[in-house]
Amino acid sequence: MSRSDVLNVALGERAYDIVVGDDLLQRAGELIAPVLARPRVAIVTDETVAGLHLGTLQDALDQAGIRHDAIILPPGEQTKDFGHFQDLLNRLLDFGLERRDMIVALGGGVIGDLAGFAASVLRRGVDFIQIPTTLLAQVDSSVGGKTGIDTRHGKNLVGAFHQPRLVLADTSVLATLPRRELLAGYAEVVKYGLLGDRGFFEWLESHGTDVVSGSAQAQRHAVLKSCADKARIVAADEKETGDRALLNLGHTFGHALEISVGFGASLLHGEAVAIGMRMAFGLSQALGLCSGQDAERAERHMRTVGLPVHPDDLGLPRQDAAVLAAHMAQDKKVQDGRVTFVLVHGIGEAFLSRDVEPKTVEDYLASLLD
Ligand code: NAD
Ligand code: GLY
Repeated sequence: MSRSDVLNVALGERAYDIVVGDDLLQRAGELIAPVLARPRVAIVTDETVAGLHLGTLQDALDQAGIRHDAIILPPGEQTKDFGHFQDLLNRLLDFGLERRDMIVALGGGVIGDLAGFAASVLRRGVDFIQIPTTLLAQVDSSVGGKTGIDTRHGKNLVGAFHQPRLVLADTSVLATLPRRELLAGYAEVVKYGLLGDRGFFEWLESHGTDVVSGSAQAQRHAVLKSCADKARIVAADEKETGDRALLNLGHTFGHALEISVGFGASLLHGEAVAIGMRMAFGLSQALGLCSGQDAERAERHMRTVGLPVHPDDLGLPRQDAAVLAAHMAQDKKVQDGRVTFVLVHGIGEAFLSRDVEPKTVEDYLASLLD
């Protein structure tokens, strides 16, 4: 029997529900109908997801009497660019999509970010629904309203805050996700435990292997808990003027690695975040802020589930500490030349710091990478 739970992202007039459960795609018509002004949607998806799950969504919409058109884009990060963005907007207008109509993003973070950004500007803003199909998208990118595209200057540099009207996280679709993608998404799950929820981290220590080996019950709980943590943080700081930045735990290091390796299949975003979180704990320990016990415990859990915690774990080329530190200085969250680091006092105790000397970071990285 299918099970679902509902969370709310408490953002006043922009508040919305996140439904987490099994077989939600089959029920999508009845779940979506209450937030439609008229029974008409445009689905945006990618070729891989379309081959696996689009038919189920279309059948469900048919059953509910909701008209639909689909735009199917190539899979992969390269689709999140100006070219596809322009093409998507024109195709949505070709369909005659009006301001009161709805865009449905069916896919991973690439589709959610691109379709959400298109929704934010089309006819000066139309509503959209997120139906995330990767673990990363279910626990992170579909919630919180960050939308955007990449440019030649870097990732996610053009975009908008545009909250969805509804998120349907159907954990059944994770069954078709390649294991490496599932694991990469799991890094963002662990992140919630490590940054502010020690109890959840302890649950993951007992059940994390169930999540990554496909247990429906464990996956439902992990998605629900992650979304609850993210919903709370976003409701308190929608535009990231404060604590929302804690969600970047591991990301400054991870992003520097992604730039160094060159965005692509050799290092997935979630893998970079896992290595980056280990570095954030390691740097915090080196600064005397976090116990070695907690740093080792965080690293041990990630290793146990199969996540990389060092560039060598993925057979990446040797990384140079000075080069990585230089990439961090280019981070888009740099203010007045100082990088904002997410550091930790322990598991579940992250905080923001702009007091770390670049030389200290470089020395720590050199000790880890040499
Ligand atoms: P993705 O969208 O590229 O999906 C990964 C791959 O999995 C793709 O090839 C896709 O076709 C395939 N796929 C998706 N669902 C599937 C399924 N159920 N079965 C089989 N294959 C499936 O990548 P992602 O990891 O979901 O998202 C990464 C993107 O998310 C990045 O662009 C990143 O910047 C963005 N992101 C955004 C936020 C935010 O807050 N907006 C947060 C984190 C990441
Ligand atoms: N993924 C970080 C955020 O949503 O703020």
